[in-house]
Amino acid sequence: MAFDAEIRQALIDQVRRFVNEKCIPIEGQVAETDEVPQNVVDEMKQLGLFGLAVPEEYGGLGLDMETECLVALELGRTSPAFRSVAGTNIGIGSQALVLFGTEEQKQKWLPGIASGDYIASFALTEPEAGSDAGSLRTKAIRDGDHYVINGSKRYITNANKAQLFTTMARTDPDTPGGKGVSAFIVDRDTPGITVGKPEQKMGQQGAHACDVIFEDVRVPAENMIGSEGEGFKVAMSVLDKGRLHISAVATGASERLIKEMVNYAMEREQFGKPIAQHQLIQAMMADSQAETYAARSMILDAARRRDAGENVTMLASSTKLFACEATGRVADRAVQVFGGAGYITDYGIERFYRDVRLFRLYEGTSQIQQIVIARELMKAAKADQL
Ligand code: CAA
Repeated sequence: MAFDAEIRQALIDQVRRFVNEKCIPIEGQVAETDEVPQNVVDEMKQLGLFGLAVPEEYGGLGLDMETECLVALELGRTSPAFRSVAGTNIGIGSQALVLFGTEEQKQKWLPGIASGDYIASFALTEPEAGSDAGSLRTKAIRDGDHYVINGSKRYITNANKAQLFTTMARTDPDTPGGKGVSAFIVDRDTPGITVGKPEQKMGQQGAHACDVIFEDVRVPAENMIGSEGEGFKVAMSVLDKGRLHISAVATGASERLIKEMVNYAMEREQFGKPIAQHQLIQAMMADSQAETYAARSMILDAARRRDAGENVTMLASSTKLFACEATGRVADRAVQVFGGAGYITDYGIERFYRDVRLFRLYEGTSQIQQIVIARELMKAAKADQL
């Protein structure tokens, strides 16, 4: 559904105001306390941010991908922790249900996800199955009208707050790779689930990731999302969308960092004039702007194509690769333009430098995006579609 331009602009303006007034002023506090304050989370709920990508009939805003990316670009202009609080509900935690859930499943869970009453996490990664997600070992063995899940998941975003886990588990232990995997929605209250303590991380304080252990967790068979053996494809489809969303968040961070570096360079004087008048500083500002504009253009083009029903696997990976690597370069240049101040905590630039490092890792590393792009190219070549 194409979104009404006026409604879209009003939403984007509202999110921008929220970011400027409520998030940016407390970025340091969130980093220090490792927590986004509850009143800010509540305001995010009121703005509908948890339900951005949940269809309206289930209580969400039902945004198309282009509008979701425009909102994610705004949310990216502050500490990634704020977006992360709602991030799994917007994306990887909810989208298996949105894309593949039955009507009954959607009615049961999506309204709580959209309102933010339920936090939904995505449990794919395991200690031995990171980039090679298809090698996951968590088992779901059928027992009457239930499946019994056993296994360990790692670095699960928002697991400590989650009520629901979109969980990928092997229903056919004899079939290796993605084919033996199925997807389930698992309620946190089911006996046998243990959630570990949030990991201590390099950055993105306020965003939490934990281990989740499943020990004889009995899940009703009707909680399977999609059909048996389709769980890997479900996960990959969810990630196609998630990779565009993350690209937008990363590019929002680039836009913020450009603003910070240009403002600073226009004020800070060295050799008798603002450093923005020095061409080597100008080169760093200009390269950052050109790359960020390219990333924004890629995001919006891929999002529009997804909205039009095109398969965007290759475009989503191309966008994530380019946008997240570009943000890494922009953050590095921001530290350089700030000089010594870029290394000092008070200025917040070193925090962004650490925070954005994760964009090149989660929802598929840059190297995984390269693999996906190359494979899609070869597939197209074989079909004579290049
Ligand atoms: N959409 C639909 N189906 C897809 C697909 C897609 N994008 N990509 C692959 N598939 C299908 C394939 O068509 C194939 O089906 P058939 O056997 O019927 O042909 C099946 O899935 C297996 O595909 P592959 O042979 O390509 O699988 P693979 O094991 O070789 O590897 C991979 C695929 C791309 C490397 C994949 O494992 C991958 O993306 N790895 C990275 C994992 C990842 O991104 N993890 C992030 C976790 S979430 C997170 O980070 C957030 C957080 O909370 C921290």
